[in-house]
Amino acid sequence: MSHEAIRTVFDTWATNGRAEGMEQGHGDVVAQVVGQMGIRPGMQSLDLGCGHGWATRLLGKAAPGATAIGVDVSPAMIAKAEETHDLTSRARYVLGTFDALDFKDGRFDRVFSMEAIYYAPDLTAALAEIARVTKSGGELHMLLDRFQESPVTEGWSADVGLEMAWLGVAEWEEAVRAAGFTDVTSSRVLDSRGPSDAADADRVALHEAGTLWIRGTRS
Ligand SMILES: C[S@@+](CC[C@H](N)C(=O)[O-])C[C@H]1O[C@@H](n2cnc3c(N)ncnc32)[C@H](O)[C@@H]1O
Repeated sequence: MSHEAIRTVFDTWATNGRAEGMEQGHGDVVAQVVGQMGIRPGMQSLDLGCGHGWATRLLGKAAPGATAIGVDVSPAMIAKAEETHDLTSRARYVLGTFDALDFKDGRFDRVFSMEAIYYAPDLTAALAEIARVTKSGGELHMLLDRFQESPVTEGWSADVGLEMAWLGVAEWEEAVRAAGFTDVTSSRVLDSRGPSDAADADRVALHEAGTLWIRGTRS
């Protein structure tokens, strides 16, 4: 799959309301996780696949003097992030791809990503690049709604029209470890608001499987 194909899909999402839908859908889980990332004053965070930048802004105000940069392959998402930026957050947004991050080695204290890494055309190259820009002792916090232990999500790749890595929890952990992270652990985060539609069996199953949160420390 090419970055051009990803860009085409998400440029459309940036303008048809799906960007705001993702913020609504992911907001509760992301707020829970950002609150537990141990972001201290002055720390620098990276948000990979930032969409319209709402989570980047949370990271950029998680502690006094903390800053955050969002990266996304979609020019329309980056334009929307700039339009919706507010000055309560020390955040900025740049166009780029996961496998070629334009940052020096060891730049970031925290690397965060919500629902994005599995679109990488070359997952191994993307994880290696993430490890490169993470400071020694810094942390990766990767959130994924689509993984094998959440079987109702298998069809999402066809629904979106893009290839997405389809891995189980142990495979995700191993991929992160192989990239150079230690103390790799995972847990599930449940949306505290409950399923988005309690009458829809798939929505209930999605809620019960939760969001996979994979953590690792850069060695
Ligand atoms: C499902 S959206 C999630 C957006 C945001 N994290 C959120 O939760 O609202 C995935 C985002 O990742 C971006 N993306 C996908 N593959 C990418 C890649 N290889 N490099 C950079 N950005 C990518 C897309 O353009 C899109 O904005």
